[in-house]
Amino acid sequence: MKDPQKIKRGDELELQIESLAYGGKGIARVDDYVIFVKNAIPGQKVRALIYKKRKGYGEARPLEVLTESPHKVDAPCDHFLTCGGCKVQQLSYEEQVAQKKQQVENIFQRQAGISEFEIHDVVPAVNPFNYRNKMEFTFSNNRWVLPGEPEGVDRDFALGMHIPKRWDKILNIDACHLMPEIGTEILNKTQSLAKELKLKAYDQKTHNGFLRYLLMRFGHNTGDILVNLVTSYENPDLLKPLIDGLIAAFPQITTVVNNINTRKADVAFGEYELHLHGKPCLEEKLGDLTFEISANSFFQTNTVMAEKLYETALDGAGLTGEEVVFDLYCGTGSISLFLAQKAKEVHGFEVIVSSVEDATRNAVRNGAGNVHFHVANLDNFFKFGVGKKYPKPDVIIVDPPRAGMHKFMTNYLPKFGAQKIVYISCNPTTQARDTEILHMNGYRLKKITMVDMFPHTPHIEAVGIFEKQ
Ligand SMILES: C[S@@+](CC[C@H](N)C(=O)[O-])C[C@H]1O[C@@H](n2cnc3c(N)ncnc32)[C@H](O)[C@@H]1O
Repeated sequence: MKDPQKIKRGDELELQIESLAYGGKGIARVDDYVIFVKNAIPGQKVRALIYKKRKGYGEARPLEVLTESPHKVDAPCDHFLTCGGCKVQQLSYEEQVAQKKQQVENIFQRQAGISEFEIHDVVPAVNPFNYRNKMEFTFSNNRWVLPGEPEGVDRDFALGMHIPKRWDKILNIDACHLMPEIGTEILNKTQSLAKELKLKAYDQKTHNGFLRYLLMRFGHNTGDILVNLVTSYENPDLLKPLIDGLIAAFPQITTVVNNINTRKADVAFGEYELHLHGKPCLEEKLGDLTFEISANSFFQTNTVMAEKLYETALDGAGLTGEEVVFDLYCGTGSISLFLAQKAKEVHGFEVIVSSVEDATRNAVRNGAGNVHFHVANLDNFFKFGVGKKYPKPDVIIVDPPRAGMHKFMTNYLPKFGAQKIVYISCNPTTQARDTEILHMNGYRLKKITMVDMFPHTPHIEAVGIFEKQ
């Protein structure tokens, strides 16, 4: 075994992969020195090249698998190691779930020193593939050509994914197994039609070209399909043959919109939207509720597991029908509406005005008279006594973005005096950080349940239940 002090960049080492780090890299150790190995899975022994050496850790990439892992499975996707969306398709699903649980235990118990709470088994995904209800692909005139691709492949057209750390090149995607199969068919048809019609893909460097993104949404429980073509300028005549071709091939498409993004920013939503075909929005059902979702609204990307997530939150909230509930960071209000069925009154707070508009529309559509939505930047909204305008909550749900809650909000939260706080998080690191603050302010973490919303990716969704001491 090599002395960790002497390891340097460029070394080739034999490494045993022990576990998976949060983020998807394999963890190996030389004595106590941790080396993160990309594209390696627990149970493998690899010969790996060290490409980064820091005081506390190193990074490596495998050159050869010396001993295969008992957890290795064949990945169905040809793109998965290049595209970067799915990092662990070659790891059995059972082991992915076991590793996610271990990561959360490690972050809370070992790194943050938070113990004395129950950690439940992960609620596994019902469908480990074809689960995403929203996908976004980028058009480019600068294709990432793979070593095995035939000579003469179109270098000036791609519709697919950015590969990690390359903003300027796009990997053309033939199939993505995370979305429903019809998504792949629509993707392929869009690729062939765009080429046939000689529509120019956008150039990220010169900002010329027309087609920028293809975004699709799928109503898992309704069968609705929304297609959003994002273009760099408005020209419905130029777009029409492409859209006609798509609708002719897929009469199941229920909505087509065209977002116009004239800005340089590499984002798939426009300054404005043209409605070109069918219903104004996609409809989706969660339990007995129906949601109208527009092209740019936030909605949980795994419909089946969103139901499981909300049931977990509902179970943790322990509602009897008498409670006032606050839903902080409520997005388009799907949790608010879900919980309103079992609560006296729900108030949702959210910074994005269009999300609050969608939430309000969905409340009306579902006849939920006991839910109220408020536009609020929670980084400072409750400063200066604004909280007094609202009834005192018995239960608070928080579901902040990856960065976690703003320090002001985390410190302010206990002042409401709610009996329970249900903290839904897509980032265990910031959730553990906020847990420490809640612990210092009279709340105790009782249990954590993870719901696997994103198989084959490193993402983790966890529901933490806190009680007032
Ligand atoms: C993870 S999403 C929660 C979505 C929602 N709970 C659901 O299940 O559909 C986080 C939400 O926080 C909102 N958000 C981010 N920063 C915020 C802030 N400072 N104040 C209020 N809302 C914010 C985002 O717009 C987003 O809708």
